[in-house]
Formats: sequence, C-alpha cells, structure tokens
Amino acid sequence: MNKLHDKNILITGASQGLGRELALAFAKNGAAGLALAARHLTALQNVRDGVRQIAPATNVLTIEADVSKAKDIERLVATTLDAFAGRLDVLVNNASTIGPSPMPFLLDYPLEDFQNVLHTNLIGPFLLIKQLLPAIIENGGSIINVTSDAGANGYPGWGAYGISKFGLEGMSQTWASELGETGVRVNWVDPGNMNTAMHRAAEPEEDPSEWSDPAAAVDVFVFLASDESKAVTGKRLRAQENWRAEAM
Ligand SMILES: NC(=O)c1ccc[n+]([C@@H]2O[C@H](COP(=O)([O-])OP(=O)(O)OC[C@H]3O[C@@H](n4cnc5c(N)ncnc54)[C@H](OP(=O)(O)O)[C@@H]3O)[C@@H](O)[C@H]2O)c1
Repeated sequence: MNKLHDKNILITGASQGLGRELALAFAKNGAAGLALAARHLTALQNVRDGVRQIAPATNVLTIEADVSKAKDIERLVATTLDAFAGRLDVLVNNASTIGPSPMPFLLDYPLEDFQNVLHTNLIGPFLLIKQLLPAIIENGGSIINVTSDAGANGYPGWGAYGISKFGLEGMSQTWASELGETGVRVNWVDPGNMNTAMHRAAEPEEDPSEWSDPAAAVDVFVFLASDESKAVTGKRLRAQENWRAEAM
C-alpha cells in the first residue's frame, strides 16, 4: 500500500463525494503530499482529519478556492507549489458543477449559468494544467481529468454540464498529444454512476441507492497516479468497468 510514497498530489473538489474518497485512497497508498481544494473550508478540514487518521506522515493542506475564478486558481497554484517546494506529481481535475437543478434544456439555459458551468468544469482545468505544467513536467507527472458519460453522449437536459465534459475530453486529448514527448501523461476518467450530492441534484426523481458509493471508483485513479501507469497516456478510462483492459 505504498504505491504513492513519493507523490505530491493536488485534488480539486476534495471536500465531498469522489474527491473526498480520492483523498482517502491516496492517503492509504502512502501519498507524500496532498493538496485538497474546494470552496468550503470546513468540509475540506474534515477530509484532512480523515487523511491524518489514515496517514499521519502525509503532508496535507487545505485550500479554499473556487476553480471558476482565475484569481483563486493563481492562489491555489502558488499555495500548492509553495507547500510542496515546487514539486507536483499528480493533478486531479475533479471539481465540477452540474449547473441549475432541475437541469434546463439548452433553449431555456440562462447564459450566466452556462458560463459558470464552463468556467468551473472546463476553463478551470485548462488554467490549472497550464499553470502547473512546469512543476508536473519536471518528474514526468500525471494529469487526470474527471469526465462523465454525459461528455460522450448528448443527453437531453444535460446541456451545459455535458458540453463542458465534451470540451474536457477534447482538451484532454489535445494536451495528451501536445505533451506526448515530455513524459507527462494525460488521461480522463468516467467514474460511472455514484451516489453523491451532484448526482442527487441532477436526477432528484431517481433512487440514489441504485448508484455506487464513490469509494468504488478510486482504484483507477490510484493506478493513474502511480508509476504503474507511466506508459499510459491519451486514454479514456471507465472506473467501474474493465479499466485495466482499456488502459492497454
Ligand atoms: N456522481 C456521479 O454519478 C458522477 C458521474 C460521472 C461523473 N462525475 C464527475 O465526478 C466528479 C466528482 O463529482 P461528485 O459526484 O463527487 O460531486 P459532488 O459530491 O457534488 O462533489 C463536487 C466537488 O466539487 C467541488 N466544487 C464544485 N464547484 C466548485 C468550484 N467552483 N470550485 C471548487 N470546487 C468546486 C465541491 O466542493 P465545494 O462545494 O466545497 O466547492 C465538491 O467537493 C465531477 O467531475 C463529476 O462531474 C460524477
């Protein structure tokens, strides 16, 4: 359980849901440093306390930041690199918003909400990758973007969210090919249906007990964060399917 012993990792959206489970899974696998970012500091501090119980040696910091805001991203980058003495191995772009609930059709979608979804789910990850790349390149690190089935299929009503994930997938492909020679790998993961606040807001009429606990989705992320995936780049992996075969 020491696969990540030399890894410093930044997770956005680490205050609950999948991000929280990723923090705990990375801690269990001995991560050297964890930077946990989201808008709600108290929730982040609870996750930090959970990490400390599992892995007292992990250097864990909490950063209150809104990834839809360029200024917050600049501060998040500076704080992370400062705490980790300039070394970052893994970036997980996990923070996302579903937008308004119930989800409107595109024809009715308010511009401001549409822009906020794209800023949070697409432009935020773009800026984070761009600004953290010099640190990630140094040790041939790993960038993991969290996508969705709605980023590969244009479902009615999943408009701005789905479009942001289509964009994230396209951007991931482009980064992967542009960074091919650098040793940095870029992959994107569809975690599958999970019982989280976001999913409950997206489909309030559905029974959430039908969906997995987000802890069921973490293994592929541990793989992508570890040196075991050094040769894997440009892949779309599904966390609750046969992702090992998809990674080949
Ligand atoms: N749940 C599913 O079934 C499902 C399916 C496919 C894909 N996904 C993807 O899985 C990822 C995790 O989602 P989840 O289901 O775990 O959702 P969640 O429980 O609602 O968690 C979302 C996280 O993102 C953070 N966040 C939201 N807006 C933010 C912003 N502007 N700046 C910084 N942090 C922000 C939230 O924290 P704060 O509120 O504290 O900021 C929270 O920690 C997302 O990328 C989502 O698209 C989920």
